[in-house]
Amino acid sequence: MARATFTFPAGFLWGSATASHQVEGNNTNNDWYAWEQIPGKIINGDKSGKACDWWNGRRWRDDFDRAHETYQNAHRFSIEWSRVQPEADRWDESAIDRYREMLLGLKERDMVSMVTLFHFSSPLWFVEMGGWENEAAVGLFEAYVRRTVSALKAHCNLWVTINEPNVYAVGGWMAGGFPPGKNDVKLGMRVLANLAKGHAAAYRAIHELQPDAKVGVAHNHRGFVAADYNPLTRLVVNKLDQGYNLVFAETLRSGKFDGIYLKEDIPQAKDTQDFVGLNYYTRDLVKFDLMKANDQFSRRFFAKDAEVSHTGFIANDPEGFKQSIKWAAEYGLPVYITENGVEDPDDGFRRLYLLEHLLAMWHMINHNKQVKGYFHWSQVDNFEWERGWTQRFGLWGLDPATQQRIRRPSVDLYSDICRTNSITSEAVEKWAPEVYSRIYPGRSSG
Ligand code: BGC
Repeated sequence: MARATFTFPAGFLWGSATASHQVEGNNTNNDWYAWEQIPGKIINGDKSGKACDWWNGRRWRDDFDRAHETYQNAHRFSIEWSRVQPEADRWDESAIDRYREMLLGLKERDMVSMVTLFHFSSPLWFVEMGGWENEAAVGLFEAYVRRTVSALKAHCNLWVTINEPNVYAVGGWMAGGFPPGKNDVKLGMRVLANLAKGHAAAYRAIHELQPDAKVGVAHNHRGFVAADYNPLTRLVVNKLDQGYNLVFAETLRSGKFDGIYLKEDIPQAKDTQDFVGLNYYTRDLVKFDLMKANDQFSRRFFAKDAEVSHTGFIANDPEGFKQSIKWAAEYGLPVYITENGVEDPDDGFRRLYLLEHLLAMWHMINHNKQVKGYFHWSQVDNFEWERGWTQRFGLWGLDPATQQRIRRPSVDLYSDICRTNSITSEAVEKWAPEVYSRIYPGRSSG
């Protein structure tokens, strides 16, 4: 029976990731809360409600305890702008104090914190001023970042300015599932360009306030693979790759924004990343399709024999993860896997997905890719945006009504990996025996 230990570099960060609106609960002053009140916007009319009750019930304490007790040494969470700045001309110091408490909570547990400053949700007053469609957003975001970072810099030096600018722009302005639910590619690209300017302003402000800070973006990277030899498919793949995967990160390298429908020089964005945050979930096959004018003439799908998640949202594609890591590493900066995970209430698929993706990451590290840490999405089931409570991404399950946490087997598997800083045959045998032969091919039956 094949046995082996795959060891990760010393000092590797092992954690999980969360986002304010998805876990805090009672976040009533942002655009997502407003969106949830509109019938038809969220599956089943689900509401974030108490979410994981991190705010009123301060249940972050128990979730951080669980993370710490299961050997995670880092956590990525986000700050809710609408709490820190509830109105355009009012700051809420008590909200900042709460976030300081959380950072201290991580410190007490010997965990490194990574803080995201914008993870999809915006204050209502900001949205009323045009949100990221309006270039004034850049200065407003910078002011919020300055206030927040000045107050918290003693306890954190890893900052993610913006989570998945591409998903945000596509969700809100192209696909329509996120607020404001528009369908206007050019405007979506305007939003993306403004986000790049917002990031650049935040990057400089943070460095001014905290010279040793490390600042980056959590990029969602989703490979697009041509499924046939049609030259039109090739064109479509290139366009998707440029418009979705490359545009933002390239702007932060070159200062030139090329959003296909909008090109602009943003010189202040040049060289504004200290690390590359990578959120990877899956990869698509693509074909040119004349009927899909609204999707850039692309039909995206998973292979017929793909192993897909509970709601068909994610295909298990660790090779895609390798390619995305390769892409991220080409910037010559340290890479953090800021999100990776799968929705699975039963947890069998999650253990396979987790192991195969960590193994893929191990391979890339051994090909000299500077991956410094991995944050699993997510610590506990949480409110999945327009998909409400239908998707369960937690290592821990959650019953939102009772707030009870349910320990899934993945908790123990991941705990073992975090504790030993490696994937061992013993851990796989113990916590995921049904996938042993996938991780260690060659095991004889019995
Ligand atoms: C987002 C998370 C989300 C996850 C799973 C990412 O796009 O950053 O907020 O919960 O995907 O859908």
